[in-house]
Amino acid sequence: MKIIFLGPPGVGKGTQAERICERFELAHISTGDILRANIKNGTELGKAAKSYIDKGELVPDSVIIDLVRDRLTEPDAVKGCLLDGFPRTVAQAEALEEFCDIDAVINMDASVELLIERITGRRVCRNCGATFHISRLAPDAACDKCGGELYQRNDDKLETIENRLKVYTAQTSPLIEYYTAKGLLKSVDGEKHIDTVTEEICAILEQL
Ligand code: AP5
Repeated sequence: MKIIFLGPPGVGKGTQAERICERFELAHISTGDILRANIKNGTELGKAAKSYIDKGELVPDSVIIDLVRDRLTEPDAVKGCLLDGFPRTVAQAEALEEFCDIDAVINMDASVELLIERITGRRVCRNCGATFHISRLAPDAACDKCGGELYQRNDDKLETIENRLKVYTAQTSPLIEYYTAKGLLKSVDGEKHIDTVTEEICAILEQL
């Protein structure tokens, strides 16, 4: 099974991807996570990507398309994968069609107010990358998976979030129409409880 998670920043793509990949044994391919790992390791890709990410802009299509094309040739991805955060432009979607057949696109949405509340409250483990929300964390809490320190992503500051939401509307939201026209789009209400969203996605995927 090869699927895409589509939706604005903070809607819950990463949170749901972790659960769905475990349940359906899919490789979780998050372009945001790959870019952040490259920034952490100081690679050339990381250095190039950092300035775009910190401003809430998209990394150029050519860079991202090559990265995903390579990742999809790895054995775990060939068996089945979930693309989280890719494609993000029509050009990326058109390129993807040349090297991967997609079974479904799960589109999640939520109000702008809720997205901002979720992103500003997000904390990420510096060690394992697990995601949390301050509303469900004790003060000074560490990661409950590995004990790592929790931090706020650079691009989760309010001024950057506003640009990320604008970029989503201008460059990524046209993919909703793109995949609707191809009969691949399935919509899920991202405002519901985390467990409810997971169950709704599972119900869709079990029918594929
Ligand atoms: P990326 O890392 O992909 O960020 P994003 O798409 O903006 O998505 P987020 O990670 O912000 O949110 P999410 O939907 O995963 O939400 P989460 O599950 O964490 O990309 C970062 C940057 O990299 C981009 O801006 C761009 O520069 C670059 N990039 C990446 N891919 C690219 C591409 N293809 N092309 C070009 N550039 C690219 O949840 C958020 C919070 O809400 C968490 O705290 C969580 O606990 C909480 N939460 C989640 N679901 C629920 C729920 N149902 N109820 C209550 N709380 C919830």
